[in-house]
Amino acid sequence: MPAYAVIGGQWGDEGKGKVIDYLSERVTVVARFSGGNNAGHTVLNEKGEFKFHLMPSGAVWPQVTPVIGNGVVVDPDVLIQEIEDLRSRGLDVSKLQISDRAHIIMPYHVALDQLEEKGRGNSALGTTGRGVGPAYVDKVARTGIRFGDMLDAEGLRNRIEQVLPHVNAVITKVHGGEAFDVQDIFDRCLNWRDQLLPFIAPVEERVRDALSKGENVLLEGAQGTLLDLDHGTYPYVTSSSSSVGGACAGLGIGPRSVAGVFGIFKAYNTRVGSGPMPTELDDEVGEAIRQKAGEFGTTTGRPRRCGWFDGVAARYGVIVNDLTSGILTRLDILDGMKTVKVCIGYEIDGKPVEGFPAQINALEKCKPVYRDFEGWTLPTAGLTNWDDVPRQAKKYVQGLEEIIGCPLDVISTGPNRHETISRKTLIP
Ligand code: GDP
Ligand code: IMO
Ligand code: MG
Repeated sequence: MPAYAVIGGQWGDEGKGKVIDYLSERVTVVARFSGGNNAGHTVLNEKGEFKFHLMPSGAVWPQVTPVIGNGVVVDPDVLIQEIEDLRSRGLDVSKLQISDRAHIIMPYHVALDQLEEKGRGNSALGTTGRGVGPAYVDKVARTGIRFGDMLDAEGLRNRIEQVLPHVNAVITKVHGGEAFDVQDIFDRCLNWRDQLLPFIAPVEERVRDALSKGENVLLEGAQGTLLDLDHGTYPYVTSSSSSVGGACAGLGIGPRSVAGVFGIFKAYNTRVGSGPMPTELDDEVGEAIRQKAGEFGTTTGRPRRCGWFDGVAARYGVIVNDLTSGILTRLDILDGMKTVKVCIGYEIDGKPVEGFPAQINALEKCKPVYRDFEGWTLPTAGLTNWDDVPRQAKKYVQGLEEIIGCPLDVISTGPNRHETISRKTLIP
């Protein structure tokens, strides 16, 4: 049963979009299973550059059915816009399928996300403000509205009448915001239904069907392991299971379908939003990486916090996801550096720390212990052959493999699909 999961190994933006586009050649379904349009996945190939927020990153391949699974929360306006943009660029998106079990991000979720962040003051999480957290809160509270609910107008209206008074009480009484109107929400839903009707389907069946026929299916992760609701740096996390555990729940498939779990790691670290990041470089080196790599959020445009590769956090990501392969991206960004550092352990008050701490207060106190690697002057940018990689860069990759305890079977040396070194075939 050949499903392959692609999981962010760090704090998101590892290059999942690039890798998924690269890996989709022999795949018939690419399915998102978690998160929402907080994600921004960049794909660059002969058809141009795409920044996907909801559309699965394999969508550029003609044989791929892009699937948005039940575990995803979807802002219909964002999806409609994305479909329109892709159509205007000549892409056929008619095969897209959205699960009738996927939850809708309502306008009041977006309002709540922004009001809650404001209310947190200095402790703001730095969310993307897209309503993702509040939509998952409603899902868990059993007051969410799903795509399938839009197919029955009367039931939908009743549902909105049922849930909106509580939402409005929170918005107006807790946050001093403006109430939403039942009729307005209902009208919007009917409009979304009219535009998205051809895409709404029981997609779990489509995915299971593909698997039972022996077709290759890619399970597209969003965010990253350190942003996972349970396993990440809580409370500075997103509101869904972005590690591999979310893939089965978010698509209605069993774990025995998953033949490979690929973790994507950037050759250094970045983070957007608040929360501890032990290897953060608040200096000219961090700034140099940000500028050279263009480390600004794909979704919000915020500058990403940059730092050295955190081997402790990455090793934790390998374990949490039981990775079968690692994939290293953006090696080219480190070209020309004199020395490249990797965090190989944490210390608190000079004492070594065992593993990756669960408590945020402990993680905040962790100081990185670094191992230095000699830099390389010859460029890796654009290389497609492992034999051409400069000796020092090879040593860096091999050092990372040892530190994280996982082979790095694919190395990405540029944003374009073809700028990739394959050391092992991951999808036969
Ligand atoms: P995602 O959220 O994990 O899909 O990653 P993003 O798309 O948000 O950010 C990754 C950025 O790195 C994008 O601008 C990609 O085009 C770019 N990228 C991916 N792989 C490489 C690489 O190997 N080298 C360089 N220079 N850029 C890359
Ligand atoms: P991709 O899929 C990087 C971060 C936000 C914030 C926290 C919670 O492109 O890797 P949320 O809006 O989810 O409630 O915000 O999570 N975050 C991401 N950071 N890449 C992402 O997605 C992210 N999605 C959410 O910045 O710190
Ligand atoms: Mg991104």
